[in-house]
Amino acid sequence: MLAILQKLEQKRAAAKLGGGQKRIDAQHSKGKLTARERIEVLLDEGSFEEVDMYVEHNCTDFGIDAEHIPGDGVVTGSGTINGRLVFVFSQDFTVFGGALSERHAQKICKIQDMALKVGAPVIGLNDSGGARIQEGVASLAGYAEVFQRNVLASGVVPQISLIMGPCAGGAVYSPAMTDFIFMVKDSSYMFVTGPEVVKTVTNEVVTQEELGGAVTHTTKSSVADLAFENDIEALLSTRDFFDFLPLSNREHGPTRPTNDPWDRNDASLDTLIPDNANKPYDMHELIRKVVDEADFFEVQPNHAGNIIIGFGRVEGRTVGIVANQPMVLAGCLDINSSKKAARFVRFCDAFDIPIITFVDVPGFLPGTAQEHNGIIKHGAKLLFAYAEATVPKITVITRKAYGGAYDVMSSKHLRGDFNYAWPTAEIAVMGAKGAVEIIFRKEAGNAEALAARTKEYEDRFANPFVAASKGFIDEVIMPHSTRRRIALGLRKLRNKQLENPWKKHDNIPL
Ligand code: HXC
Repeated sequence: MLAILQKLEQKRAAAKLGGGQKRIDAQHSKGKLTARERIEVLLDEGSFEEVDMYVEHNCTDFGIDAEHIPGDGVVTGSGTINGRLVFVFSQDFTVFGGALSERHAQKICKIQDMALKVGAPVIGLNDSGGARIQEGVASLAGYAEVFQRNVLASGVVPQISLIMGPCAGGAVYSPAMTDFIFMVKDSSYMFVTGPEVVKTVTNEVVTQEELGGAVTHTTKSSVADLAFENDIEALLSTRDFFDFLPLSNREHGPTRPTNDPWDRNDASLDTLIPDNANKPYDMHELIRKVVDEADFFEVQPNHAGNIIIGFGRVEGRTVGIVANQPMVLAGCLDINSSKKAARFVRFCDAFDIPIITFVDVPGFLPGTAQEHNGIIKHGAKLLFAYAEATVPKITVITRKAYGGAYDVMSSKHLRGDFNYAWPTAEIAVMGAKGAVEIIFRKEAGNAEALAARTKEYEDRFANPFVAASKGFIDEVIMPHSTRRRIALGLRKLRNKQLENPWKKHDNIPL
């Protein structure tokens, strides 16, 4: 018996060594952790239970049958993050470069299926040379099996992808279909075709980092949500992030005890809005002063900064925050900010996370670049997302809410539950100057008359009371009481029930 047990230990030890010490050292020399080390950092100590440790590939072509490494390039299983269940796969670059074989894919699919069955998130740690070249179409089939499960799991369990090494070719499409993508600077990249192919086809000379590194994808393309300095930072931040999410669409989000009083007034908010309506202020300040302990986990901070999205908590419960940022493009809605916020709103709605919207928006960004690139269709995404969302929705207009953007930003008309305005709110079709130039065009040469008309328009609309008189604003609130109002609203909405008409699925403008 003892001999058998010893044999098991030996087998386990061999599997844990992956592609061997030399390749482990090579991994470390690139500043990367190994697949198992990453899991250790990500999960609660000792909580990881591995499955399929002894799975091997079944390929006999191109001499690969001479080498069988237990686990076949991916470590899979489940564990906990702060006590809550999560399924994990972690590709092992030391084994055939983490390349995906049929069996490797089957291992990932097994934990995806299990996660879906029991209702727990999946976190994928990607570090792979892509399709296992020796296996050909069997490997492509494996990818498609993973993709299919990504889609079935979408909106049922949260899916998070960490890119911690190469991720190229069709392999990028599994992360692309998950909810959030985090990358590591200088050691991870994602592209459909690499620099060599790009050079051959388009004559462009570009590095891997420029083409598909963490900075590129978190600033320009918005494929990824966050860029971290190294593996450890990425993994520890994922733990923090995980704490905001429910395990599945069947459960409420976790509640974290807090000492932050729900009715905490913040007098400094009464002076947040500058006297000059064209002067910006940092919307982050309001967000941090409203959420518990100023703890705000921002997503996509470096892309489309004119809108802020992220998670916070109120009375210990997760809320999704969407806020116009007057410091960037005056807080205008444009193509990128609409897409960024729309996807976030849909995530919150899918996972029963209430949405708090802070509004200071002068409208949609004008220009041929916006129009020709489809602001109509992309702006409609955000409008659509808010309109279909049935989760609790609380809106606070701090200053401008002009034009179509007023409608879009979780207005009463899109089933906003509690729509508040600060006394500094200006709710109008457009700013006074622009409005007067159009409706009093005949008086164009008369500066004095125009100034009087502008003042008249401002007096009428540069306040929240016209909207409030029509019931479009539920209450004009003191800025310092914003947290208290939101907390009370969320309490009242805890048992909110609202259903959209039955349909197979909607047809959001993609
Ligand atoms: C099999 C692979 C492999 C692959 C790497 N290896 N990629 N084995 N299939 N796709 C092996 C290498 O042979 C090597 O084995 C080990 O992994 C480490 O690779 P290195 O090249 O030494 O590492 P490095 O210099 O860091 O370069 C990493 C790399 C490079 C940039 C990823 O290996 C590479 O370009 N690989 C090919 C990438 C690729 O074209 N994949 C197919 C993409 S198409 P030894 O034994 O020497 O340690 C695709 C289609 C998916 O993925 C479609 C889904 C729909």
